[in-house]
Amino acid sequence: MAEPKKLFIRTYGCQMNVYDSERMAEAMGAEGYVATDRPEDADMILLNTCHIREKAAEKVYSELGRLKPLKAANPDLKIGVTGCVAQAEGAEIMRRQPAVDMVVGPQSYHRLPVMARGGVEAGLEEDKFEHLPARSRAARAPAAFLTVQEGCDKFCAFCVVPYTRGAEVSRPAERVLAEARDLVARGVREITLLGQNVNAYHGAGPDGEWSLARLIRELAKIDGLDRIRFTTSHPNDMNDDLIAAHGAEPKLMPYLHLPVQSGSDRILKAMNRKHSAEGYLRLIERLRAARPDILISGDLIVGFPGETEEDFEATMELVRAVEYGQCYSFKYSARPGTPAAERDPVPAAVADARLQRLQALLAEQQRAAQEAMVGREVSVLFEKPGRAPGQMAGKSEHLHAVHVTDPALRAGDLARVRITASARNSLAGEIAH
Ligand code: 5AD
Ligand code: SF4
Repeated sequence: MAEPKKLFIRTYGCQMNVYDSERMAEAMGAEGYVATDRPEDADMILLNTCHIREKAAEKVYSELGRLKPLKAANPDLKIGVTGCVAQAEGAEIMRRQPAVDMVVGPQSYHRLPVMARGGVEAGLEEDKFEHLPARSRAARAPAAFLTVQEGCDKFCAFCVVPYTRGAEVSRPAERVLAEARDLVARGVREITLLGQNVNAYHGAGPDGEWSLARLIRELAKIDGLDRIRFTTSHPNDMNDDLIAAHGAEPKLMPYLHLPVQSGSDRILKAMNRKHSAEGYLRLIERLRAARPDILISGDLIVGFPGETEEDFEATMELVRAVEYGQCYSFKYSARPGTPAAERDPVPAAVADARLQRLQALLAEQQRAAQEAMVGREVSVLFEKPGRAPGQMAGKSEHLHAVHVTDPALRAGDLARVRITASARNSLAGEIAH
């Protein structure tokens, strides 16, 4: 019997790309491909790319340069570029790197198997959602992603997502529920609902449109599903129902990623965010009233065109007021085709210095949030073995990484853990008996 063909996928960027990569691996699995983690063994290599910042996009071309020599060793090797760089740069990628055989944008992943069989070369037409063939029945890790919504209509002035992922589309509720039940049947206990604008979810349900809060309530009825999360949310779509769900639904985890991008109203306006810093702070207050221990996570951009020292100080002030448990911060990167890319940039050295100051403050808040867990008893879903012998790694309800050394622990165990110490990026603990 011939050896099965091997597929290597490298994933860049957001969790939606992680989800898409899994679905592509499953679709190619139905074509007889098995996964490998060694590109040099592969018959097909896919780079599932990210276009959000310039650095992310450039990584793809350097990786392609490194992979090119593999084609000399294996002339049948196919190299494909998928994801948002594929969508944004299209066939230009093949001109820049002739080793590339296929370019497939996020709206066309259902066509990947046909293309792999030697079909058409580029598949970038708009053909949204619901497409990949039947999934395999293989067991899954205890925590999984599930895409419920894709695309974005917000058009923040700095962001490529509305262009690369297209207009906002919600999947029908029944499809989401069916996929969730399938995941749970395969051992999944925690599901993170994904969408670029997940809280704008408005999928068709059996009795009219469902909001995200309604979807969460119905998902929570699935036996064996213990934890529900969702990401990423926009402040303007955080409605009363969803805020209340954080207090009312025990399976909904006390963690919310709610990007604000800036603390200056002037910059928020220039970013086309359509909310104020004060409005964001009030929203956080309401969330904390519903669920006092909720951990807030965010995204911030420094050095957006026109950002003055005063604007930046307003961001620092907002960060002090929110007390993030986790926050990602980025230096503004001009993206071709976005409105902000036309504006005068802040000097790089100024942006770098601001980013450093902001990151020092955020690191301090994150450390404090983690240290506040020491001595507490928390619930942990164990996902995989840790580095030390007999150690298991898992996640707390607040999404802290937790390590416990206990030979009886298995992946998929949900256990009460007493936190004994806080390290740089994780907590250590012992099973609470
Ligand atoms: N430059 C810097 N950061 C960006 N982000 C999105 N676009 C840009 C850009 N052009 C950040 C935002 C967003 C996160 C996913 O990436 O903070 O929330
Ligand atoms: Fe991009 Fe998010 Fe703004 Fe949409 S809401 S344009 S995905 S930053």
